[in-house]
Amino acid sequence: SMLKAKPLTQAWRGPLPFELPPLVRRTSSAVTRGATLANQVAVVTGSTKGIGFAIARRLAQDGAHVVVSSRKQQNVDQAVVELQGEGLSVSGTVCHVGKAEDREPGGHGALKHCGGVDFLICVAGVNPLVGGILGSSEQVWDKMLNVTVKAPALLLTQLLPHMEKRKGGSMILISSVGAYMPYSKLRAYNVSKTALLGLTKALAVELAPKNIRVNCLVPGVIDTAFSQVVFEDPSLWTYMKALCGTQRVGQPEDCAGIVSFLCSSDASYITAESIMVAGCSFHL
Ligand SMILES: NC(=O)c1ccc[n+]([C@@H]2O[C@H](COP(=O)([O-])OP(=O)(O)OC[C@H]3O[C@@H](n4cnc5c(N)ncnc54)[C@H](OP(=O)(O)O)[C@@H]3O)[C@@H](O)[C@H]2O)c1
Repeated sequence: SMLKAKPLTQAWRGPLPFELPPLVRRTSSAVTRGATLANQVAVVTGSTKGIGFAIARRLAQDGAHVVVSSRKQQNVDQAVVELQGEGLSVSGTVCHVGKAEDREPGGHGALKHCGGVDFLICVAGVNPLVGGILGSSEQVWDKMLNVTVKAPALLLTQLLPHMEKRKGGSMILISSVGAYMPYSKLRAYNVSKTALLGLTKALAVELAPKNIRVNCLVPGVIDTAFSQVVFEDPSLWTYMKALCGTQRVGQPEDCAGIVSFLCSSDASYITAESIMVAGCSFHL
């Protein structure tokens, strides 16, 4: 048949010589799926390791040019080399999201070659500091709220002119299951992540007239350096298993597909939403 004569994996690189039935398009290969974000540009903060790195890789696999960043040049270089080695379109820049000078588009030097930004994914977070609310010093609160809550809003302000050059856009914030379930050891962190649910709603309303959607990814316990302190606690697992049937720790890749989907045109009527990727759900 015609389908056999021209495999789908090659078809999207040029104009199709024939019309494919819609069902065939939907079930096509990973390479065909790569077209979903083609010609679009994503800025992903905190993306040299863990969840951010998995998201950066997936957005690039799906066709976007991705600007990866984090605090350390060495980590940025390593991530860029690894992803470029996989044939992906990425560039890198140092951006400590808590530093004003790093948030300026100048700090995102790679942007000037991109002609605009379509997606802003704010993954960078503060290492969970073990302790209760009352034990958290003013410095701890400031760092937590600066990096988690203020930085995404301020970075958006900086990048908005670049996003407005495009037809629409998508912003995604990264909260945590702790936003719904205040895990006892990370209370100030939990509160900062709950604030992100509110930031998602507020920004979604404010940006709707600009056709920029704002959604929130709410990961459960994901196996990264960041979460060792949490997932080594057997009492947490006993609780999660008993209450929610949770069977395993998540992997960074578990968080990547949903972000790509939320950026894609398939999600064009989804905004102000918070979506758990946790092997369970703590909200109705
Ligand atoms: N892992 C979990 O179980 C879990 C669960 C729920 C939510 N989350 C959230 O997911 C996000 C990522 O966590 P992860 O587990 O993927 O952590 P991770 O594996 O430790 O990776 C963190 C990444 O962010 C960068 N980074 C750290 N501080 C930064 C800053 N101030 N500015 C810019 N980049 C920074 C790090 O690189 P540099 O060191 O070079 O800066 C690294 O690339 C965080 O917001 C976290 O709250 C994680």
